[in-house]
Amino acid sequence: MGIIDTHSHYNDEAFDEDREELLLSLPTKGIDRVVNIAVDIESSKECIELADKYDYIYATVGVHPSYVHEMQSDYIEKLKDLAKHEKVVAIAEIGLDYYWSTEHKEKQKEEFARQLELAKELGLTAVIHSRDAAKDTLDMMVAKRAGEIGGVVHCYSYGVELAREYLKMGFYFGIGGVSTFKNAKKLKEVIAYLPMESIVLETDAPYLSPVPNRGKRNSSLNIPYIVEEIARIKGIQAEEVVQRTFENVHRLYPKLG
Ligand code: NI
Repeated sequence: MGIIDTHSHYNDEAFDEDREELLLSLPTKGIDRVVNIAVDIESSKECIELADKYDYIYATVGVHPSYVHEMQSDYIEKLKDLAKHEKVVAIAEIGLDYYWSTEHKEKQKEEFARQLELAKELGLTAVIHSRDAAKDTLDMMVAKRAGEIGGVVHCYSYGVELAREYLKMGFYFGIGGVSTFKNAKKLKEVIAYLPMESIVLETDAPYLSPVPNRGKRNSSLNIPYIVEEIARIKGIQAEEVVQRTFENVHRLYPKLG
């Protein structure tokens, strides 16, 4: 039993200098498993390479909403092929992002729908990225019966009311470094509201380092700060947060074994 980081990007160039050293150190520092998340076809391949190299790293394949407009029409076939790898646990990260790219809204919706369908077809879960697109994301997930797919809403950034809708669909909530920010009042309310059964830990490394390392390169080694904050909000021990989230991830991703 140990910490599971359900969302990292260790293929990112931010880790080029010390990737091997850092990844080898994780199991010695209480990090039990890592799910490395893809954002396009190239990173999907890189995720699989990392999963091949390290037995405690698992992979996803998928295209982030900010990159779907760059894809060639056969990209779904490529994802389908890559998803055959035994350590691929989800189609990710997929969704809608109107913060970074408002100019491709229709394309984003179209490709989100296609990737949700792919997850369903392959019997995989989905990791959802949704920013400034609350209504469209929920509408699409309801329309595509995402409750039958399941997965994680990553870096959850909306309020309690919407959280209730995702809970109804059986989705898990990825809680990361933002939870430790002083001004993250809304997220702290959501954490207080969520049942422990629905929370999983994540970093989004190299991004979103928790306090006291805010602004620096993030890694799974920072997760204890997130654990402490969840424990404080929930009024439980840190060990219980680690134990419960560990159980949640194994329910979500039985392949992690
Ligand atoms: Ni991410």
